[in-house]
Amino acid sequence: MSKSSLGSESELKHGQFNQADWSSAYCNVDDELNNFELKIIKGEIPIELNGTLYRNGPGKLERNGQWIHHPFDGDGMIAAFKFEDCKCNFTNKFIRTQAWLEEEKAGRFLYRGVFGTQKPGGKIANIFDIRLKNIANTNVVPFGEKLLALWEAAGPHEINPSTLETIGITNLNGILKSSEAFSAHPRYDPGHHGAPRMVNFGVNTGPKSTIRLMEFHTQGNNAGELISERKDQFPGFAFLHDFVITKNWAIFLQNSIRFNPLPFILGTKGAAQCLSSNTNDKSNFLLIPRESGVFANQMPRVIEGPKGFVFHHLNAWEEDNDLFIDSIYYNDFPSIDSNQDFRTIDFDLLPEGILTRCHIDLSNEELVTKRLNNQCCEFAMVNPQKQGSKARYAWMAISAKEEGNGPLQSIKKLDLLRGERNIWSAAPRGFVTEPLMVPHPNAKNEDEGWVISLIWNGETRKSQIIILNSADMSEQAIIELPITIPYGLHGSWVNKK
Ligand code: CO
Repeated sequence: MSKSSLGSESELKHGQFNQADWSSAYCNVDDELNNFELKIIKGEIPIELNGTLYRNGPGKLERNGQWIHHPFDGDGMIAAFKFEDCKCNFTNKFIRTQAWLEEEKAGRFLYRGVFGTQKPGGKIANIFDIRLKNIANTNVVPFGEKLLALWEAAGPHEINPSTLETIGITNLNGILKSSEAFSAHPRYDPGHHGAPRMVNFGVNTGPKSTIRLMEFHTQGNNAGELISERKDQFPGFAFLHDFVITKNWAIFLQNSIRFNPLPFILGTKGAAQCLSSNTNDKSNFLLIPRESGVFANQMPRVIEGPKGFVFHHLNAWEEDNDLFIDSIYYNDFPSIDSNQDFRTIDFDLLPEGILTRCHIDLSNEELVTKRLNNQCCEFAMVNPQKQGSKARYAWMAISAKEEGNGPLQSIKKLDLLRGERNIWSAAPRGFVTEPLMVPHPNAKNEDEGWVISLIWNGETRKSQIIILNSADMSEQAIIELPITIPYGLHGSWVNKK
C-alpha cells in the first residue's frame, strides 16, 4: 500500500477514523472563484496532463439555519480544475437552476428535496407539494461545445465550459420533452461503431416503466445530434440510476424495489425515502439492443439477476454468447431515517458495496455471480477506452477497512484478471471522492496515465486535489484549494483541444 503524505502520524488504528474529520467537509460553499491559480503543496503536475477536470456535487447544505436532510438534496455546484503547463487553475459556480435563484432571493428553502429535506413549516407546509426540485447536482459531462449538468429525474442544464455560467435548462434541440428525465449517467462509447458516441437514457416509471435509450454524436460539426433512439416498456417500478453498454447491448439492472408514494404525498418523507428494497427477491437484467448492433430492432431480453441493490456499474462486455457485467452490490437499499442527521451516520450500520461479476450465458440465460473483492467500494471505472470491452484494470474509491462499510478513504487499482490490488490511502484523517482515470495521451498500456480525485484532508480541514500515477498509484502532486468543497458525486475529464 502506498501511504499518503497527508498529515502526521495519528493515534487512530487501521480502519478507524474520526467522525468529526469526516463530517467537517460538509459546509456551504460561499465563494465562487474564477480562474484562480491553485497552490501545489507537493510534487509536480505532469507536463502531459492537459485538460480540465469537472466535478459536480452539493454545494448548498444549509439555508437560514435549516440543514438539508441528505447531502444528495444539496444544490449543484460545478468545480473546474484546468491543468496546463504544470499549473492548475480553479473555477467554481453554482448552477443557476430556477429553484436556486428563487431560494437565494428568499434566503430559505422553498422546495422539498427528493432525499427527505422538507420545507420549513412542518407537515402542513409540505403536504401535497409533490414538485420536484431539479438541483442539477449529480454529474457534469461534455456535450458538443457545452457542458451538461445532470440530475436524473429532470432535464439537463447547459453550462459554459470555460466560465461555468448557466446557459439554462435545455431540451437538447427539441430531443427532450419539457421536464423529461435524462439520466445523470451517460456512457461514452469509445468507438464500437466507428466514431465515439454518448449513450444515455431517461426512465419514466410507475406500475410500468418506459426506458428511452438515446445515442448521440460527440465529435465534429454534428456533436450533440441524435444518432438513434428507441423506447421500451417493462413491467414494474424501475429505479435506474446507472447502466452499462457493450457493443450490442445497453444493460440495466432493475433492482427489486418497492415505491410507496403515500408518505411523500402526505408531506412526511422525501420521494427517495419511500423506496424500500425487497431483499429476498431477485432483480432483472433488462437488455436493450443498441440500434447499431447486431440485434438492432429486436425486442429487449429480460434475464433474472441476483438479489441485492445496485447504484453503480463498473463495466460490461461480450464474448460470443456470454455477457459479463461488473457492478457494485449492496444487500439493501441504504437510506437515512427521517429523524437522523446525516453527519452523525453510523457507517457500521450501512451495508457495504461489493464489486461483483455477473456472467450470463445468453444461449440458456444461466447466471453465475462472483465476488471480485471483499472491500467496500464505490465510484469504480475502467480506462475510458475500455468502456464496453474486457478491461484488465479498474480504479475505485474504497473504505480503509478490509470488511464492512466505512467512509471512502483510499483509492484502489484492481487487476481484474489476477485480483492484485494497489492502494493509495488518505486514511486515517483524509477522505476521497470519485477517482477519475485519465489515460496518458501517448499511452501504450491500459493502465498508463493518472488518477485524479478531489479529497478532504480532515487534519488541515482543506480540500485538495490528488494526482496519482495510475499504473503504480504513486503520488504525483497534491494541490490545495482555498475553499472547502463538500464530498461530491460525479464528474468528467475533458482533454485540451
Ligand atoms: Co451515480
